[in-house]
Amino acid sequence: MAAKPPGASLTCSARVSLFLCSLTLFSSLSTGNHKISENHETTLHEEIANKLKLGDKELLHTENKFKAFMQSYGKSYSTREEYFRRLGIFAKNLIRAAEHQALDPTAIHGVTQFSDLTHDEFERLYTGMNGGFPWKNSAGGVAPPLEVDGLPENFDWREKGAVTEVKTQGSCGSCWAFSTTGSIEGANFVATGKLLNLSEQQLLDCDSKCDITQQSACDNGCAGGLMTNAYNYLIEAGGLEESSSYPYTGKKGECKFDPRKVAVRVADFVNIPEDENQMAAYLVKHGPLAMGVNAIFMQTYIGGVSCPLICSKNRLDHGVLLVGYAPKGFSILRFRNKPYWIIKNSWGKNWGENGYYKLCRGLAMCGMNTMVSAAMVAQTHTPRAYASY
Ligand SMILES: *[C@@H]1O[C@H](CO)[C@@H](O)[C@H](O)[C@H]1NC(C)=O
Repeated sequence: MAAKPPGASLTCSARVSLFLCSLTLFSSLSTGNHKISENHETTLHEEIANKLKLGDKELLHTENKFKAFMQSYGKSYSTREEYFRRLGIFAKNLIRAAEHQALDPTAIHGVTQFSDLTHDEFERLYTGMNGGFPWKNSAGGVAPPLEVDGLPENFDWREKGAVTEVKTQGSCGSCWAFSTTGSIEGANFVATGKLLNLSEQQLLDCDSKCDITQQSACDNGCAGGLMTNAYNYLIEAGGLEESSSYPYTGKKGECKFDPRKVAVRVADFVNIPEDENQMAAYLVKHGPLAMGVNAIFMQTYIGGVSCPLICSKNRLDHGVLLVGYAPKGFSILRFRNKPYWIIKNSWGKNWGENGYYKLCRGLAMCGMNTMVSAAMVAQTHTPRAYASY
């Protein structure tokens, strides 16, 4: 997300210039005709082995894993130099996955579609909340507390038909738009009984709202944004189109919003108190909730209940959608049960558990309780009491 306190903007721009550097390098490498001699190839092998401090056998082993990764995710690299650069990053990510596994024993970590990206590239390209800041709810009011006694033990909005298919943001920091549409799709379902697939692209192209108290925290297409800014934009713009009338391209373009095609109007929104029992109560009563989280463990996540021993609560960098919870999660590694949240992500169905993330409940894990919000749609139909419990 783009919310940046004064001190954090340096980090962000440093990250941007780093990334641009590697892009420039990449394009200069991929232009021109590369006929690599055997000598050169040997040198590349030696260089990478030295850099990674690997012996010949270990390098071969890593390279075989890398080739399997390339095949299963359909990856190709335009030059041998780029191939070796990515191999080096892949090798480091194998080590990171093992570290994550040790820190997060109730989940499974390993090779994912992001295993050839540095953490900076991953954050820049696949999240969309440029964090590093202690985030405080500053737009919208905080919702009053609800009664938490008598909540169901298990709850899942997917079973009630309030959640659209898992979507794919692509190489664009647009998580904030997917988190926003998810919460509005849910609120609209609760209000009308109809599930619509709403447009992230309208938000990418048309929304440049800034946070009321942090004028530097503005929604900016693939460069990040905040869900609370997006609600404010939608309230002003008059509403949100369906994805079919304003389809996703994954790039910021010219705004083509047509007020006549509005499918859902947003009346208001609230921030949910920083309390996981309140979050459960609001989830059940209101519908799926937009949520910010520190995504560091998500780059290597394969499945299970993620419950890392250490995960910064102050580095929210990813917007997702809370859709349910369960009292117990089976964990293959330790045969331990943990209550967990069910979280919809926007990295396609091949990521995680069919596109979903399970995060343990009750520990304010990875800051997941600090940026939770719910949209209210303007009702055009008789509301259905969907969430009576
Ligand atoms: C829903 O919208 C997303 C983008 O907003 C699109 O990628 C997806 O194909 C749509 N799904 C359906 C079932 O129409």
